Amino acid sequence: MARKNFGVKSWFYPLPVLIIATYDENGKADAMNAAWGGLYDGNAVELCLSAGHKTTKNIQLNKAFTISFATKETVVASDYVGIVSMNNTPDKMAKAGFTTTKSELVNAPIINELPMTLECKLTKFTEDGNVIGEIVNISADESILGEDGKIDVDKLAPISYEPVHNTYRVLGEVVGQAFSDGAKLK
Ligand SMILES: Cc1cc2nc3c(=O)[nH]c(=O)nc-3n(C[C@H](O)[C@H](O)[C@H](O)COP(=O)(O)O)c2cc1C
Repeated sequence: MARKNFGVKSWFYPLPVLIIATYDENGKADAMNAAWGGLYDGNAVELCLSAGHKTTKNIQLNKAFTISFATKETVVASDYVGIVSMNNTPDKMAKAGFTTTKSELVNAPIINELPMTLECKLTKFTEDGNVIGEIVNISADESILGEDGKIDVDKLAPISYEPVHNTYRVLGEVVGQAFSDGAKLK
């Protein structure tokens, strides 16, 4: 089978669409879109944030942030917060149509329109400027729970960022059972 080389790219599947929410120095909520992030440990996350973002300064200030998964229903608002900065658009959240409630556990806002949220405390900025945070709670709106009381990922409908063509895609269908299907080959 022939293969084509593309060289060095930041292409990776699947990339999440994480909406990072923080408070500024006046207690005003901001949010930004981040695709370069993920789990760092069993109870920790890692984000690759540029230093100039208002969000990065807010995390330095409050040592806290929340991460919510962008959803099929909130594509436009989620993209908007990724292309406009609160550094120069103070009414960014209102324009996005995002409203917030303060987390009871960390000094950061929870976006009401995004139904699943990780509440995080800053652990540290690494020497490369990446953010490491401790997950202190995960909360979900009851509207996305299944009959078993757990999160129903189909109801959540999280989106993924597809970096080759710059599209958003909704998470796809079930194709296997983890820690189980492979046992057929044992
Ligand atoms: C799909 C997408 C993914 C993005 N991923 C990141 C990322 O991982 N890290 C980053 O620093 N900026 C990322 N951005 C850019 C920020 O979301 C953007 O600069 C935003 O305006 C920052 O807002 P703020 O200054 O209000 O914090 C992404 C934007 C989009 C649209």
